[in-house]
Amino acid sequence: MPGIVVVGAQWGDEGKGKVVDILTEHAEVVVRYAGGPNAGHTLVVGNEKVIVRLVPSGILRKGTACVLAQGMVIDPVRLCDEIDELKKRGYEHAADLHISDRAHAILAYHRLVDGLREQTAGALGTTKRGIGPCYEDKAARRGVPMGALRDPKTLRDLAARGLEAWKPVIAALGGTAPTLESVLAEIEPLAARIAPRLCDTSALVDAALRENKTVLFEGAQGTLLDVDHGTYPFVTSSSAIAGGACTGAGVGPTRIARVVGLVKAYCTRVGAGPFPTELSDEIGERLRKIGDEFGSVTGRPRRTGWLDLPALRYAARINGLDRIAITKLDVLTGAPKLRVCVAYETPHGESSELPVSDLERAKPIYRDVEPWSDDLSGARALGDLPRAARDYVAMIEEAAGCEAMIVSVGSRRDETITK
Ligand code: IMP
Repeated sequence: MPGIVVVGAQWGDEGKGKVVDILTEHAEVVVRYAGGPNAGHTLVVGNEKVIVRLVPSGILRKGTACVLAQGMVIDPVRLCDEIDELKKRGYEHAADLHISDRAHAILAYHRLVDGLREQTAGALGTTKRGIGPCYEDKAARRGVPMGALRDPKTLRDLAARGLEAWKPVIAALGGTAPTLESVLAEIEPLAARIAPRLCDTSALVDAALRENKTVLFEGAQGTLLDVDHGTYPFVTSSSAIAGGACTGAGVGPTRIARVVGLVKAYCTRVGAGPFPTELSDEIGERLRKIGDEFGSVTGRPRRTGWLDLPALRYAARINGLDRIAITKLDVLTGAPKLRVCVAYETPHGESSELPVSDLERAKPIYRDVEPWSDDLSGARALGDLPRAARDYVAMIEEAAGCEAMIVSVGSRRDETITK
């Protein structure tokens, strides 16, 4: 099974870290193909919690090659901090990364602009990590590819060009532009650490696939945050969907053998934007508390809501899902009631499809489903689950149109049902 894409089927935070970590047991290469330090993938090994932002979740398994591909935007400062932190925790091989020389570098002025914009009326609730402005520079063809870290003069020239372009924007937003020297002072000392890791990662991934090695393409964010297919403009700036693995990692679609969609048993969203099944009552608060739904990058409380089946059907279609992994099923245990959105009432009538471009005006139609109260954490096969939980899994599988290969019943690696 050479090329496997793992993609979030909702608004991100579906629990990718754990699932990718489990699937990595059988993968020789793990590739991050989009986004940057806006992602925060939580891994729990034993009693230890490790959060990775830029480095692929495969990093905890020694011998797995980890790739940061060209669809990503990389903050060199955060990358080096993250590597240092992983090494401190005993993951000595954490520096052993392959970094695309064509991924784009996030510099101080990107973070500054992102932060300033978030203080204005048009704030999107971004992670303020400079993601949007960096992708804007890439599309405007004035970005700084990571390859520039190989040569101080190129780095200086490109950073100077980027900074000049942003100066009027920074002034209009009431900020003070950094000097070129301060921008460079932050990253120049890191060049020696990063440059030896730079390469054409697409060739590396291709070689692995040709040797029939299993390559896992690890999505970041989620389908509904995708810049083309999400709830625009409340989206991130990259191709978070499965197709993004092809453009972001530089592999042809024929190389992808499987697309696994991550489906949390309920929905969450961070930041602004439509979220039709949102719960603003004590049930929502319960999900947040039991599910530990606080942003792993920003610490913000996540908005919580009922499972949205039309959104799942949409994600299945957009990504071509052929397997799913259901996460956090245990969080629903003991809920006094359970509901799922099955369709939408729209200005044009009832629809079982997600009205993605008109979500603000759509009203969810709910169905009550049977709750359960038995502890799920010891379940290792679907048959170990109480009937109501089994029915819940079957309902998700039916909406996704494919089987669940993993059902997570706790945060630990072993609290998992695999098929
Ligand atoms: P940005 O990616 O920082 O520009 O943020 C754009 C939107 O995507 C905001 O609503 C963020 O909260 C959201 N977002 C970005 N990354 C993640 C993630 O990893 N999980 C969930 N939401 C995210």
